[in-house]
Parts: sequence; C-alpha cells; structure tokens
Amino acid sequence: MTTMPWQPEEAGPNLVVHADNSTFLPTLPDGSFTMIYVDPPFNTGRVQSRQQTTMVHNADGDGDRTGFGGRSYDTIKGALHSYDDAFTDYWSFLEPRLLQAWRLLAEDGTLYLHLDYREVHYAKVMLDSIFGRECFLNEIIWAYDYGARAKNRWPTKHDNILVYVKNPKKYHFDNAEVDREPYMAPGLVTAEKRERGKLPTDVWWHTIVSPTGKEKTGYPTQKPEGLLRRAVSASSREGDWVLDFFAGSGTLGAVAAKLGRRFICVDQNSQAIQVMTSRLGHVATVVALETA
Ligand SMILES: C[S@@+](CC[C@H](N)C(=O)[O-])C[C@H]1O[C@@H](n2cnc3c(N)ncnc32)[C@H](O)[C@@H]1O
Repeated sequence: MTTMPWQPEEAGPNLVVHADNSTFLPTLPDGSFTMIYVDPPFNTGRVQSRQQTTMVHNADGDGDRTGFGGRSYDTIKGALHSYDDAFTDYWSFLEPRLLQAWRLLAEDGTLYLHLDYREVHYAKVMLDSIFGRECFLNEIIWAYDYGARAKNRWPTKHDNILVYVKNPKKYHFDNAEVDREPYMAPGLVTAEKRERGKLPTDVWWHTIVSPTGKEKTGYPTQKPEGLLRRAVSASSREGDWVLDFFAGSGTLGAVAAKLGRRFICVDQNSQAIQVMTSRLGHVATVVALETA
C-alpha cells in the first residue's frame, strides 16, 4: 500500500481518491478534518434471525473490550447481534470506519452521518458508544416529498442525519453562515424579520435532486447540494479540510469548493470516480490508492 502524500497543514490539492475507505482512511493523520459527512449505503434486505444470547456475547471471541475514551461497547453490540443478523454485518462494516472518522476529526470537528429510518436508531447507539453521549449534537430530519405513497402506513419521506462533535466544549458551529428560511406565518412577524427569514431548525425541508435539473449527475444516490451547504457552512470555516469517504457523485466536494473549503472525497466505485472526475476535476486531483 502506498501512503498518500498528504498532510492537512499543506495547502495541497483537494483530492478525489479511488479506494476502499477502510484501506485509505488509516493513511491519514489524526485530527485532520473539521467536518466529515458520510452517506453510507443503507442496510437494505434485512433478515430477522435471532441467535442464542450466549453465542452473542462471544461473537468477537474476545469478550468485552474498551473503546475510545475507555468506553466499553461490546455489550451493546452483543445485544444488537442477537436481534438482527443483517445488522451484524452492517455493524461490522460501519463500525471500523466510524472509529476512523472519530480519529480523523479535529478537536473542533463534527461528523454528519446520513442514514435512513431503518438504521438510524442502531447507529445512534453505536455513535453514543464511539463518541460518548455528551457528544451528540442533533438528529437532523431531511424531509422531502417525492415518489409513491404507501397506503398501509404513513409514507416515509425523510432521511436522518446524526450529528456528533468530537469535543462538546470546542466544536465549531456558526449559524450566522447558514441560509435562512421563509417564516411559515409571515403575517405574524415584522417586515424586517420577514425579509431576513428564520434560522432553520433540525427539520430540513428540501427537494431531492431534480431528475431534470442542472445539479443532476446521473449517479443514483446523489444528494442535493442544498443539504450539504447548510452542514458545511455551519460546521467548518473557509480554508478548513472536510472529508466524505462514501462520496458517490462528490456532492460534499462540490459544495466545499464553492464555499472555499478544502476536501477529500473517497469512493471505491469506478463509476463514482468517473462522475467526480467530471464534476470536480477542475478543482481536485484524482488519485487511485495502489495496494500491494
Ligand atoms: C449512498 S452513496 C453516496 C452518495 C453521495 N452522498 C452523493 O451525494 O452522491 C454511497 C457510496 O459509498 C460507496 N462505497 C461503499 N462502500 C465503500 C467503501 N468500502 N469504500 C469507499 N466507498 C464505498 C459506494 O460506491 C457509493 O458511491
């Protein structure tokens, strides 16, 4: 494996990296990023299959172990293992990468983990264990209104974004930089307030990427720039480094470039790299991580 020639303090180029993130992330220095946004593939196709609790607690073969900050989290993992086999796989996939995210965040850094309603509650437990409950900042609901509506339950039209900070006493958050929204009842506020708009809450109404709009790249899971713009604006400053290691079409990179942040976008899929090369090639160097 080659080590990336990259140090965060260098005014080096933004990077689009073709690599499995589990191989690439360990090559980056601790505390390099002010903001990390990740939108991993969802754990679909869940199979419910209960196991014996005794098997569960020995699932790793090494019993409880201590995580960052002296926290023990195998017990919680064990409980989840017993509940859902498919989640065990998903957990094994996600957990080491989220541990890397924790390591890579600067003291004033923030993680945005984008999931859907099927995963978010498990992931909350996982992130509480990795970061500590005191580091939980928000659960953002991205509400949209698109596609068919289920008739046998409330149609699910939202995603969930868990927000955790590395250090609750030092994290960067600047709501003055965030775009504002129209008041729902504009007649009830002064003209000055109406003009200025209101600060967004933790529920973000935003359309999906329009199938006919100019933002569309053709990458199937592309997220709208408007969502990422809010997160990047609030949780980083100009010149800071931001990271997306499930980058897909490179939405984080596109937003970061427009807002004067520096970025690394990682994806293992060659189609994603093609899309990012055409979307970000003018502002980033595209590299492939060689493996031995
Ligand atoms: C939901 S998509 C991200 C979409 C992105 N937020 C956007 O706006 O386009 C998830 C991405 O994770 C990538 N991925 C999955 N496993 C990976 C891994 N182990 N290393 C790097 N990328 C991975 C997939 O190729 C996919 O592009």
